[in-house]
Amino acid sequence: MEPRFVDIHSHVVPSGDDGVQNVSEGLALARDAFEHGTGLLYATPHVSPALPLTEERERRIRKAFAELRERAPLELRLGFELTPMRAFLDEDPRRYVLEQVAYVLVEIPFVGAADAFIDVGEWIERAGLTPVVAHPERTEAVLRNPGLADELAGRGWPLQVNASSLLGRHSPEMEREGWRLVDDGLAALVASDGHRATRPMLLDGAYELTRGRVGEERASRLFDGSALGLAVGTVPERGLSL
Ligand SMILES: [Fe+2]
Repeated sequence: MEPRFVDIHSHVVPSGDDGVQNVSEGLALARDAFEHGTGLLYATPHVSPALPLTEERERRIRKAFAELRERAPLELRLGFELTPMRAFLDEDPRRYVLEQVAYVLVEIPFVGAADAFIDVGEWIERAGLTPVVAHPERTEAVLRNPGLADELAGRGWPLQVNASSLLGRHSPEMEREGWRLVDDGLAALVASDGHRATRPMLLDGAYELTRGRVGEERASRLFDGSALGLAVGTVPERGLSL
């Protein structure tokens, strides 16, 4: 399959979080993504109260990322996935951008209110950047109050739904909310949030379901990166023979 998907959310670089644990595992996940249609993939290690981005951790992440980028059969870029915490507010959010675009990926905490999320989103905006809302359909705050997703989309904050939610890999409620965001035109894009071989990317399966539901044109826009001004470019030659 010609690679055509842009995936802005994955845990394909070892970083000490719950994603891949070493470069070879990351390479296997990247190859699998490529074989299932992904041409541009962002590695977005978690940054959270339990796992802040210390200088030492960042050095290790960047080293593993460079090694993986060299060997992966697709274009790999670095970003981060922020879990809201007050400590961010003393920092410069530009440290955490998705490489080459003015967006920062932030998740609403799975449990609890979204207040800290809003504060972090506004901190990102003050720097002239835009927060991308990671998997709102998987969070208690949105499942209890779906109007919150509408409000965040209304702020111009792109909502990113997980492919795994659309495929019913989490819970029926998350699946239903994910499709509501797609059906109502609130979702800006779908990404994998792929973590490991047992939780792979699944973008092609989610794309086919989405295409059947909302048609090819809308489905393409949700999977081709255009929501963030991204596109699959020239696939590097390196790595194809690995
Ligand atoms: Fe994630």
